[in-house]
Amino acid sequence: MKQIPILLIVAAAAIGTGGAMTLSAAGADYESSQIFGGKLPPGYRDWTLISVAHEAGKFNDIRAILGNDLAVKAYRDGTVPFPDGAIVVRVAWSYVPSEENDKVFGQPQSFVAGTPTNVQFMVKNSREYASTGGWGYTQFNDGKPAHVAVQACYACHVPAKARDYLFTRYSP
Ligand code: HEC
Repeated sequence: MKQIPILLIVAAAAIGTGGAMTLSAAGADYESSQIFGGKLPPGYRDWTLISVAHEAGKFNDIRAILGNDLAVKAYRDGTVPFPDGAIVVRVAWSYVPSEENDKVFGQPQSFVAGTPTNVQFMVKNSREYASTGGWGYTQFNDGKPAHVAVQACYACHVPAKARDYLFTRYSP
């Protein structure tokens, strides 16, 4: 029994000295296999917020762009290209007026997230997705994988090539 705390200390020390990156890379492999195996990766909704955006027109949505640990570290460090294992997810909801909030403000001015629309992922693996700039693209509708034209995703992201095909900038 007395040895257990020592083992824990050794394990904690290993994580503290570079093991953390290995751990998150292993986690990223798992997340990637989930995503391309047709499952939303566990915990993606808790990833770190990179920024938010609103699309008008036919989308009329409000969206949040989140990243796993590797993606967010690269964003914060300004690392381009992003390392393999980086994953960026875009979640979106319909953009709806809030009567409840408007009553408090005394005029129509409040818009909030309504029902979810779809979830889009970009997963970095420079070898596996070399033909699409090193990113694998996929989308989920109602939690289920959608059939997407991956080349069309990629083609539209080419204008952001200088930032490794990511349009979203990190909002501090
Ligand atoms: C018509 C052009 C277009 C197409 C097609 C397109 N995207 Fe994007 N995508 C954008 C633009 C512009 C943004 C940034 C603005 C925004 O968030 O709406 C973006 C943002 C994203 C983001 C957030 C990271 C970033 O680059 O800012 C992800 C993830 C994403 N798209 C995935 C996909 C996937 C997966 C597909 C294919 C199913 C796809 N996109 C197809 C234009 C496109």
